[in-house]
Amino acid sequence: MTNIVKIKAPGETQTYQIWIGAGLLEKSGEWAKHCLAAGGNKIAIVSNKKVFGLYGSVVKKSFEKAGYKVSVWLMQDGEQHKNFGSLEELLAFLSEEKFTRADAVASLGGGVAGDLAGFAASVYLRGIAMLQIPTTLVSQVDSSVGGKTAINTAYGKNLIGAFYQPKGVLIDIDTLQTLPRRELTSGFCEVVKQGAVSGRGLFNKTREFLKNYPVRNFSGYFTAAQSKNFKADLAGLIKAQVAFKARIVAGDEKESLSRADNRSRKILNFGHTIGHALEKTTHYQQLKHGEAVGYGMIAAAEISKNLGIFDKNSLKSLIDVIALAGRLPRLKNITPEEVFRAAAFDKKKAGRVTTWILLKKIGEPVLIGDDKIQTSMIKKSIKAILK
Ligand SMILES: NC(=O)c1ccc[n+]([C@@H]2O[C@H](COP(=O)([O-])OP(=O)(O)OC[C@H]3O[C@@H](n4cnc5c(N)ncnc54)[C@H](O)[C@@H]3O)[C@@H](O)[C@H]2O)c1
Ligand SMILES: [Zn+2]
Repeated sequence: MTNIVKIKAPGETQTYQIWIGAGLLEKSGEWAKHCLAAGGNKIAIVSNKKVFGLYGSVVKKSFEKAGYKVSVWLMQDGEQHKNFGSLEELLAFLSEEKFTRADAVASLGGGVAGDLAGFAASVYLRGIAMLQIPTTLVSQVDSSVGGKTAINTAYGKNLIGAFYQPKGVLIDIDTLQTLPRRELTSGFCEVVKQGAVSGRGLFNKTREFLKNYPVRNFSGYFTAAQSKNFKADLAGLIKAQVAFKARIVAGDEKESLSRADNRSRKILNFGHTIGHALEKTTHYQQLKHGEAVGYGMIAAAEISKNLGIFDKNSLKSLIDVIALAGRLPRLKNITPEEVFRAAAFDKKKAGRVTTWILLKKIGEPVLIGDDKIQTSMIKKSIKAILK
């Protein structure tokens, strides 16, 4: 069964659709026809060797069957390739292949391919149609929805980019079967994050799913006798996650700096202040992004408890669900002081005050400036996760 979430991107008159289900890659052509305006006949698939090797041919064949002329551009695998060099190569490829404004770019892969392809699509000929086929959990519940695209520079991550909405997103949950264990944990940490700031409903749904399907056996559920139930539950969870993110984005597409209410897009950064600081301090080597967010959520929840706004039982229940997402790697060779300094330079800083996303309850975030939080309290929370 295909679940469909309809999205109305701010400022756009038309809605676009996110299709979620099993076995959907085979329908890529039909889906593209549905998303794209008639007239264009070319699609450039942006992927990497690994993902294209797993899923490229089925997507390509399906596009071709639907009448598209398909070209393929493969980037190198890894966050470090989401950069100017790759962007330039991709733009040159589109020019060589004589892509026009009637044609489209389709990413097939995780957030790295999606962010790079989306940014290239936003600037090539001042914008050509973009399709997203996310194949990691992070990209299915987070990066493919919401229209943020970007590349990294020597000064930091995601510093050059654009808000650019896709014409459609195709989420085939079967692709998650081949995802390495740490990528799954990283994704489930973001899933827990969205639950923690969304409301009790999504948080409980996430917890139940992780309890019913322990992450360590994940790939086995796809072929087990009860795979039908599993796939329905997984698609249901992803649908609920996507719908939540879409709702937040619709109300605050560009993450308005002035907003400080608990439905602003900023709440999606729960766990990210310390998360980003940990990634930076470990030189992006020790932790996957979601794993860093896992630690960051614990730190933010500790601060919330120490401020007296979040009770002890809620803290425990959050930590328990993060543990269900999988084991976080032990943090080595870093000091609380280094992490604190890195957090003070987080790019989410507006002016001189860092906005912390804290919790009053599970599902009830609150935005608080760091001028209202004692430095010692922040340091204490960092010490707690480094233990
Ligand atoms: N735009 C946004 O709103 C947003 C939100 C969150 C994250 N991001 C960005 O997304 C990126 C992280 O995305 P990610 O976690 O998907 O990382 P990623 O794209 O690097 O993918 C992780 C790894 O999994 C591999 N892979 C992908 N699909 C696979 C599959 N089905 N089976 C086996 N292996 C597979 C990839 O080749 C890669 O090695 C970061 O650059 C981050 O900044 C953007
Ligand atoms: Zn994140």
